[in-house]
Amino acid sequence: MKSERVQVLERVTERLQALLIWIDARFPLSKMWREHISEYYAPKNFNFWYYFGSLAMLVLVIQIVTGIFLTMSYKPSSAEAFASVEYIMRDVNWGWLIRYMHSTGASAFFIVVYLHMFRAVLYGSYKKPRELLWLFGMLIYVALMAEAFFGYLLPWGQMSYWGAQVIVSLFGAIPFGIGEALVEWIRGDYFISDITLNRFFALHVIAVPFALVFLVIAHILALHEVGSNNPDGIEIKENKDAKGIPRDGIPFHPYYTVKDIMGVAVFLAAFSAVVFFAPEMGGYFLEHANFEPANSLKTPEHIAPIWYFTPFYAILRAVPDKLLGVLLMGAAIVMLFILPWLDRSPVKSIRYRGWIFRLAVALFAISFVALGYLGMQPVSATLTLAARVFATIYFLFFLLMPFYTRWDRTKKVPDRVTYHD
Ligand code: HEM
Repeated sequence: MKSERVQVLERVTERLQALLIWIDARFPLSKMWREHISEYYAPKNFNFWYYFGSLAMLVLVIQIVTGIFLTMSYKPSSAEAFASVEYIMRDVNWGWLIRYMHSTGASAFFIVVYLHMFRAVLYGSYKKPRELLWLFGMLIYVALMAEAFFGYLLPWGQMSYWGAQVIVSLFGAIPFGIGEALVEWIRGDYFISDITLNRFFALHVIAVPFALVFLVIAHILALHEVGSNNPDGIEIKENKDAKGIPRDGIPFHPYYTVKDIMGVAVFLAAFSAVVFFAPEMGGYFLEHANFEPANSLKTPEHIAPIWYFTPFYAILRAVPDKLLGVLLMGAAIVMLFILPWLDRSPVKSIRYRGWIFRLAVALFAISFVALGYLGMQPVSATLTLAARVFATIYFLFFLLMPFYTRWDRTKKVPDRVTYHD
């Protein structure tokens, strides 16, 4: 005889199953779950580097949710913006937590996304057939930079104001009067004003997040169409069993859902440590000058963008001519877009590439970090020279890639993924 509790449970399960059948007859819920989660076969050799895609999704959710709550108390006007942020920090219940989660989330987003992109470079994940997946990723990256830039004006602090002033005026470098007209059009005024703040607010809270969510969906659909790459760079779909399941694949759920939860736990521990103990991160996550309200009559002594933009800012400053600097800064990003067509190596993963590619990747990573550091420092002749050297290495990594990836001596790629229990 079944206990009453078991009987109740059985009845609830039956009703839920009936509900699911009802939904499935009208919407492909179970089908989507199977295709994208329980029967999505991912390579069994994912390592540390594969945590960052799911973490990027987590940070996106954190940013959207905290952003919605910030918007409830923030005032997008030049007269009230700074004070409304102080009000959130001091008077709104848990406002300080929401704001620090959002400001820390912005930096966390870039840390996670930079590691996510670097993984793609290590394992050749941008190579055929994943070029479009990479392009969607790059569009996400550009949208993310726009989102961070627009958001940074909103607290209306000194660095918000002057940072926006510097970046918007870069468009003024375009010749034939086009630049000046463009700058005025972007600002909506003759200087960064209330009007600029209003439109940046609109772009930050709706237009760009909307684009980001759409692009992330396209990114995942493209990934699931071709299947995940892996640290060996082997196409697991090329070796299937009688049922058509890749021999080196395991269902995403429960294997990687559980693995990703562990990544989420470690990430949230580190994230909380920053939010609760070092939200300004010594001026790297929230710059000191931004604790002063924007003042259009007083330029801060040293204007530097926040850390995730500084590699590109260093390239801009390394060039004496403004237009050329802007063009090179743009070219630094274009290089990343065309990466899939620069790499001519027959193998994907760095594990089976030769010493030339390994050296090139190491030099590239060093120069990107060095440029990031140099972009934060006040200008000096020695540092400008260093920025020129590192910017040259950055560009050579891409421009010489079609050659050295062909000369490089590759190793034989095994037939099956390598997996150590
Ligand atoms: C909001 C930002 C992003 C989110 C939420 C996101 C999400 C994901 C997820 C969940 C995966 C599968 C899991 C993984 O491989 O880690 C993935 C894979 C991938 N992503 Fe992203 N991504 C983002 C940004 C980017 C960017 C900026 C790029 C590069 C420009 C990029 C390039 C790739 C590539 C190449 C793969 C396939 C990797 C492989 O299979 O080895 N993603 N992404």
